Amino acid sequence: MSVGVRAAPSVAALSGRALSVRAAPSVRAALSVRAAPSVGAVAPRGWLWQAGSVGHWPLSPRASLGASGRRWRMSVGEQSSVGERVSAMRKPYRGDEEQTFEESHLSSLDPIQQFEDWFVAATKCKEIGEANAVCVATSTRDGKPSARMMLLKGFGKDGFKLYTNYLSRKAGDLDSNPFAALVFYWEPLNRSVRVEGRVQRLSEHESEEYFQSRPKSSQIGATISKQSSVIPSREILTKKNAELEEQYKDAEKLPKPSFWGGYLLVPDTLEFWQGQTNRVHDRIVFRRAQEDMQPDGLLTHEAVSGWVYQRLSP
Ligand SMILES: Cc1cc2nc3c(=O)[nH]c(=O)nc-3n(C[C@H](O)[C@H](O)[C@H](O)COP(=O)(O)O)c2cc1C
Repeated sequence: MSVGVRAAPSVAALSGRALSVRAAPSVRAALSVRAAPSVGAVAPRGWLWQAGSVGHWPLSPRASLGASGRRWRMSVGEQSSVGERVSAMRKPYRGDEEQTFEESHLSSLDPIQQFEDWFVAATKCKEIGEANAVCVATSTRDGKPSARMMLLKGFGKDGFKLYTNYLSRKAGDLDSNPFAALVFYWEPLNRSVRVEGRVQRLSEHESEEYFQSRPKSSQIGATISKQSSVIPSREILTKKNAELEEQYKDAEKLPKPSFWGGYLLVPDTLEFWQGQTNRVHDRIVFRRAQEDMQPDGLLTHEAVSGWVYQRLSP
């Protein structure tokens, strides 16, 4: 077995099949440990250890490294692919910081109000760049699903508003199957919201109004793109962009193209998911009250505005 250590730290112990390295607290530099195939039967050569917080990126299951309270990340390089190591990614347990999401913590029994509460919290969270980024799933008439990210552009009692190209793939799906699902994920808050419902087009008037509120560059972008169609090159877009910039150089705004507009998703289900690092996650789902869904105070609870709610197992 041969162990070569670079970059100053004092290597104190190699015990059993697991490699354990202690480093002085002052050590900041990356430490590289080379080991023969017999060591821990993990990596034949080229282990790279870097200072960093443990938890998000997986350590090798067969090696550990402690550095006076500091933990280290390892890149095994040739031994296992990033794709293989994804299975070991998990957030560390936060213990006391855990905040359960009890029924009594609902800010409102109206799910749209509850959504607003969480949405506002997400917009206030500095680590969240775009709280309105949402995954939108649609499906063809014969049930083939597809999903893509979009930006939510409004919500309220009526539903959730999104804007796009009416000739795009998603629009084709919605033309033949008007049901869609949204998933928000606000990772720093450990929260996700799922929304499902029926989709309808917004009025031309509302789409026009929103289009006219957009910056001119976005209007040009929307006008030149035959969204989801195959094109031969990027140049075709930059050329069209330049043409429209020239054509509308004296105008403040562009007219809304007829193929561009909004959708309203009218929800029949909203689920609020609060993740817990101990994996006992909270899920509270609101459904539009139906005849066969009478509140019994046990599994189904009365909400307001024509909704009931239930707790789901995580
Ligand atoms: C964060 C983010 C936000 C997006 N917002 C929109 C949007 O609001 N409207 C839209 O048409 N495409 C948006 N896109 C692009 C879509 O993800 C997608 O590429 C496009 O709508 C074509 O999808 P389709 O071929 O499934 O119709 C966004 C992409 C990202 C990553």
